[in-house]
Amino acid sequence: LGAFTYDPGFTSTCSTQSAITFIDGDEGILLYRGYPVAQLAEHCNFIEVAYLILNGELPNKTEFADFDASIRKHTMINESLKNLFSGFNYDAHPMAMLTGVVGSLSAFYHDTTNNKDPRHREIFAHRMIAKIPTIAAAAYKRYFGQPFMYPQNNLDYCSNLLHMMFAVPAEPYVVNPVAAKALDILFILHADHEQNASTSTVRMAGSTGTNPYAAIASGIAALWGPSHGGANEAVLKMLEEIGDVKKVQGFMDKVKDKNSGVRLMGFGHRVYKNFDPRATIIREQCHKVLKALNVSDPQLELAMKLEEIALSDDYFKQRKLYPNVDFYSGIIYKALGIPVNMFTPMFAVARTVGWVAHWIEMISDPGMRIARPRQVYTGAATRDVSAMAKR
Ligand code: CMC
Repeated sequence: LGAFTYDPGFTSTCSTQSAITFIDGDEGILLYRGYPVAQLAEHCNFIEVAYLILNGELPNKTEFADFDASIRKHTMINESLKNLFSGFNYDAHPMAMLTGVVGSLSAFYHDTTNNKDPRHREIFAHRMIAKIPTIAAAAYKRYFGQPFMYPQNNLDYCSNLLHMMFAVPAEPYVVNPVAAKALDILFILHADHEQNASTSTVRMAGSTGTNPYAAIASGIAALWGPSHGGANEAVLKMLEEIGDVKKVQGFMDKVKDKNSGVRLMGFGHRVYKNFDPRATIIREQCHKVLKALNVSDPQLELAMKLEEIALSDDYFKQRKLYPNVDFYSGIIYKALGIPVNMFTPMFAVARTVGWVAHWIEMISDPGMRIARPRQVYTGAATRDVSAMAKR
């Protein structure tokens, strides 16, 4: 290996310095810019937290008003994007649409392509954060064949998203404040998580100097996988498949059988080896939201049973596997009326703040270099090409 270290999956490689998010996986600590995530979820709204993650400090009243107004101002997407959406099959996964449409934003906004200009970077950040809910909601509408709903900028960020998803032109629609608040808290908890796979992807793509919208699209693609953001969808599919509390033990036996290839989705984390602080808050929220919305969901009972059995099982104890952020989030999304294939796009909307902040941190670092890992070559030694007739 010479001067190189082989580290598959980057279990012990720090790819960058960052001042945005701190995680202590053994203690279950998650801080954005030094603030515990639980305090932020209790005292702030998502847009305040977005400002904090981007700028390093919580906003005062004027700063918040300016930032909030700028995000509201940029919520519309170019009308021609309707053509792009209608090019997708009606049954295209919303994450496929999100990846494609966000990538296509790089074909607009030629006024702000100088990555070295802080004002250009700021306008990109505001546009991206403002437009991602509009794009996610349009993907939902395309999937269901309903007309797109334009953003209503008198609504706050999460209410606007719910409105764009669930309103139809023919009928009045009033956003339920309980649903908007629940979404806001989920978004705060998902806003950033240091060098996870999708954020590292955004940084890696961005390190080439590519268009930042294209870099964010690469992050969305990475998030989709079931080991990462796609886990929230996979959890609900798993609960559907188990179907009944009586079948939980049988499913757990399958999970522990290494030959089955079955994992307990929503469990385990590369960094958290004690508990995921986000999961603790989401579990509490899950009970609160279902109660406030008067929803009773047998899948919550099923999830609790799975958690109870897993936490007392040696297989999970020995491997330090605990529920992660995605174990209960799907049950909340479901209670809000959000269909399963929209769970990961919801995650993407929230995580856009983190991706954008990391892109800015990276691109403004004077010491930034293109990300270029090496490999351990395992292929053939040098050999000579023979004529096709002799092969
Ligand atoms: N169910 C059953 N066994 C598991 C699980 C699980 N969910 N997670 C890990 N293991 C076992 C794994 O088989 C291995 O066992 P052994 O040492 O006997 O080979 C051991 O635990 C270590 O697992 P690993 O795959 O080496 O751990 P990792 O750090 O590479 O993977 C993970 C982390 C999150 C991908 C993994 O725990 C997993 O696949 N979990 C399920 C998917 C999931 O919930 N993902 C969401 C993560 S949090 C949100 C996000 O990142 O977006």
